[in-house]
Amino acid sequence: MSKTVDVVIIGAGAAGMMAAIRAGQRGRRVLVLDHAKAPGEKIRISGGGRCNFTNIHAGPKNYLSANPHFAKSALARFTPQDFLAMVEAHKIGWHEKTLGQLFCDDSAKDIIRMLLEEMKAANVKLQLQTEIEAVRKTGDGFDIVTNQGAFACQSVIIATGGKSIPKMGATGFAYKIAEQFGLSLIETRPGLVPLTLEPGLLGELAVLAGVAVDASISHGKTAFDEALLFTHRGLSGPAILQISSYWREGDHITLSLQPDTDFLGILKTAKRDNGRQAVQTVLSGHLPKRLAQYCVERAGITKPLADLSDKALIGLVESLQKWVLKPAGSEGYRTAEVTLGGVDTKDLESKTMQAKTVPGLYFIGEAVDVTGWLGGYNFQWAWASGHAAGLAA
Ligand code: FDA
Repeated sequence: MSKTVDVVIIGAGAAGMMAAIRAGQRGRRVLVLDHAKAPGEKIRISGGGRCNFTNIHAGPKNYLSANPHFAKSALARFTPQDFLAMVEAHKIGWHEKTLGQLFCDDSAKDIIRMLLEEMKAANVKLQLQTEIEAVRKTGDGFDIVTNQGAFACQSVIIATGGKSIPKMGATGFAYKIAEQFGLSLIETRPGLVPLTLEPGLLGELAVLAGVAVDASISHGKTAFDEALLFTHRGLSGPAILQISSYWREGDHITLSLQPDTDFLGILKTAKRDNGRQAVQTVLSGHLPKRLAQYCVERAGITKPLADLSDKALIGLVESLQKWVLKPAGSEGYRTAEVTLGGVDTKDLESKTMQAKTVPGLYFIGEAVDVTGWLGGYNFQWAWASGHAAGLAA
């Protein structure tokens, strides 16, 4: 005999917990199932342990999807201010770090605690360490078969996230269920992930491992101005993570180091005022020393400033601010913060996240083909899509 509830939510992550709160507040009997030992594990490790829980500028333009309009409805109905109101009602200290990114003052665990308290107040049941064996359609709902027994429900919300960080329990479960019920998938790939370099270039850049610099990184018409970090594996830092979601294998990216610095003006002034200086000495005033040295060597410059033509200086500046480079690949799901692609939004109702052809079946959060930029946008999507489904299921 199955136990009966109104709504089963599979996945006690950010999206699943928010959906549970909303459905529970409507008086629905809600059961949340998860195979992990603890809820909200990705929240716990997010934002370096302080959870970048939203971004005050979040809007549809900050998301990648085959249908860029899909996210508009859910994002408009649950805004960053709505989430912030919850955070403040629970007296969780927060601050804006940069670019509208809101973080907890103390710990990401405060956000998990807040969600669990809200779930409890809404009479939501949470059952962890539960393996889902099957999701079956019945006449008027679904049967969820697990290693802890079966549950009958009217609505089922799939909130199992994407494939990123498999060692934390990420699975392709949502995609399997989508396929089972005839929904289309947009091909998945790792997003917000460090990029790797071919061995020759990696060897050449090894001297720069650990160096960070402000940069504008572009791919086609998309550009991000944030920090760039050279690593032992290739390129990382926020600017690279952002562009990685747009980059495809075989594509080039362009690096502009310190894009707001007028290197040509600085070099010309230095040549006029003290031409016997080494070029790297001048650049070191504006770039990390190792990077300045590498750039001068890469441009093949061996003479002091006074002996360099304007053409040579322009060539050097272009190698700093129009540095075209072809990444070999990415570090993959092992380190990716998110999974691009997923359940095709053309098969979902944008207002409720319900499958158009399967009444009662909902997909939310990262499992759906809506992926945010780095900076709190992915949690905002999890909250907003969870809110939408929780009000409908
Ligand atoms: P999420 O992955 O959070 O939850 C899915 C749940 O489903 C998990 O509890 C999992 O155990 C469960 N599950 C999976 N398969 C299952 C199965 N087969 N059976 C039962 N349960 C199953 N975003 C942001 O906005 N700000 C930030 O600061 C960060 N920082 C960050 C750091 C790191 C290291 C990572 C990896 C990611 C981030 N992110 C982020 C991204 C953010 O964590 C992510 O987008 C959301 O957690 C997605 O929420 P979901 O609820 O959709 O999935």
